[in-house]
Amino acid sequence: MKHADFLSLRDVTAEDIHHMLDHALTLKIERRMRKDLHGQSLALVFQKPSLRTRGSFDVAMYELGGHVVYFGPDEVGLGKRESIPDVARVLSEYVQVIAARTYRHEDVEVMARYASVPVINALSDFCHPCQAMADLLTLREHFGSLRGITLTYVGDGNNVCHALLFGCSRVGIHLRVASPVGYEPRAQVVAYAQEEASRHGGSVTVLNDPREAARSADALYTDVWTSMGQEEEAVRRRRVFAEYRIDQTLLSLARPDAVVLHDLPAHRGEEITDDVIDGPQSIVFQQAGNRLHAQKAILLWLLANGVEARPGS
Ligand code: CP
Ligand code: NVA
Repeated sequence: MKHADFLSLRDVTAEDIHHMLDHALTLKIERRMRKDLHGQSLALVFQKPSLRTRGSFDVAMYELGGHVVYFGPDEVGLGKRESIPDVARVLSEYVQVIAARTYRHEDVEVMARYASVPVINALSDFCHPCQAMADLLTLREHFGSLRGITLTYVGDGNNVCHALLFGCSRVGIHLRVASPVGYEPRAQVVAYAQEEASRHGGSVTVLNDPREAARSADALYTDVWTSMGQEEEAVRRRRVFAEYRIDQTLLSLARPDAVVLHDLPAHRGEEITDDVIDGPQSIVFQQAGNRLHAQKAILLWLLANGVEARPGS
């Protein structure tokens, strides 16, 4: 039996999330070349472009003593040139862990089902758990602790929003989501997160008014209005989301010392203005940097110490 996959924070306990965040902080403070993953390889299988996810996984493996093999959108033909189960079984013969970036979440689940090594979701249309871990790490660094923080997410109820719902609800954050009607996060995810949040001392509220959501928040977060794969909807989305922009007016409703997050890439002038993303309250680039440290902790959680024997290894 293989060790856990990392497909969604819904499958990771609060204890494990805290453990990985603690570890990520230590790895960041003590950043140096290590040998923990000496002789181990990670395959990155990406159906979509990436700067942060690809770059941070590559450097994470390098600094942990391991190796990366990258397959871009045109190379593997996932599900076209070759079936996903076959790709999963072949890669399991070569590497000790796979990170897949897919359109359909089902595809990363199929990859995990057929791989005999752990599979990491490097972003699917449903969620982006690696991003959420870096987000929690950034909030924890800034505020010292996660419990009781009010985080307001403004914009599309998309993969990044779902990942925040799963992650924040496990660690006692009060999460408010403000999305246009028809673009809210999935009702099932919201219901699940509300129940989880109440068990962990936090809360989840979904609204349609970004101003009400931003009021007195400790942190504001946004993501692009048009995600990868939705390009043909961009014109309509620009109209629908026009009010869901983090600008100085919206930011002024939050606490005076509130911070601003964005997973990037940003569509400057759409969901966030230049003066906010480049302003003193932005911790966006610290957040992007934390992808490296968070993913080192995820890799070590999956691969190092106490991992059950994997067939084929
Ligand atoms: N935030 C994020 O996942 O960025 P990339 O798409 O560049 O990897
Ligand atoms: N919601 C965005 C996130 C990019 C990191 C997308 O899926 O394109």
